[in-house]
Amino acid sequence: MEASEARKTLFSGIQPSGSITLGNYIGALRNFVLLSEQYDCLFCVVDLHALTVRQDPAALRRNTLSLAALYIAAGLDPEKNLIYCQSHVPEHAELAWILNCFTYMGELSRMTQFKDKSARHQDNINAGLFTYPSLMAADILLYQTHLVPVGADQKQHLELTRDIATRMNGLYPGLFVVPEPYIPKTSARIMSLSEPTRKMSKSDAEDSYIAVLDPPDVIRRKFRRAVTDSETEIRFDPENKPGVSNLLSILAALDAITPEEEAAKLQGLQYGALKEAASEAVIAALSPIQERYQALMGDKQYIQDILKANAERAHYLAQKTLRKVYKKLGLYQL
Ligand code: TRP
Repeated sequence: MEASEARKTLFSGIQPSGSITLGNYIGALRNFVLLSEQYDCLFCVVDLHALTVRQDPAALRRNTLSLAALYIAAGLDPEKNLIYCQSHVPEHAELAWILNCFTYMGELSRMTQFKDKSARHQDNINAGLFTYPSLMAADILLYQTHLVPVGADQKQHLELTRDIATRMNGLYPGLFVVPEPYIPKTSARIMSLSEPTRKMSKSDAEDSYIAVLDPPDVIRRKFRRAVTDSETEIRFDPENKPGVSNLLSILAALDAITPEEEAAKLQGLQYGALKEAASEAVIAALSPIQERYQALMGDKQYIQDILKANAERAHYLAQKTLRKVYKKLGLYQL
């Protein structure tokens, strides 16, 4: 990574807080593989972020290893990309503190995700939930990142990251690279199967999402139960036919055509056929990943070795930025 100075840096993170969904795969993981050809990439398991809501310790440990394996199984080469765990590189939390001192309460209060999450977890509106965006900014700025692939729901956090970087560059010229968001061109929003007007989310009921690790029979069952509508026409119309349109979007994303083209292909068929086509396309896309995943999970030592080696490489890069920040801000250097 250090050798190819000309290449730009890309950073992205996923929380190890449950199953990775088909939505995460189509919207994020799949694009990472393409992007990793052009950028020096860091793919982080953001376990510190996961702590902003209560986690079962054993499940968190399991999910962390599982997510690292999934990054690799999805096709990200751990020799060419830094796949590592956030808490293994202490500079993330250290830089987050500094950034907190340059982030305003007013900015953090305006974050939609904070407002949503604090409404949903009224019993645990902790300070970590509030400062979540400054930790995310630290993840990104620590590596002088140029590009951050994000879904629509994280755009506001990235805007804030840019504001913090720009503000600090104003005070301390040349401190940070100001990162750009990368919104994939085919940014299909994958919706819940049971409530297709809401985003597919791993924190909702099991039947509402497809997990990347769901076996074929479970995938078929979930699609069979997917909510459609009382008409019979297969037409892409998210406004009036959210369920059918979602199935078309999923198919289209996997076939690399538009949902309208997908609808034309299925013209005259029944909803059952659409569901069947979607199941089979998803199974075909996920099975090779699942096979690699199972093989990797059979060799935990290998994944641990990768995480360790990559955390060391990340630590080296992170230290460079953190030292620069401490120095420019006037923290006494020995
Ligand atoms: N907040 C992101 C999410 O929930 C995860 C994340 C943490 C992230 N740090 C990041 C994403 C840095 C991109 C870059 O989806």
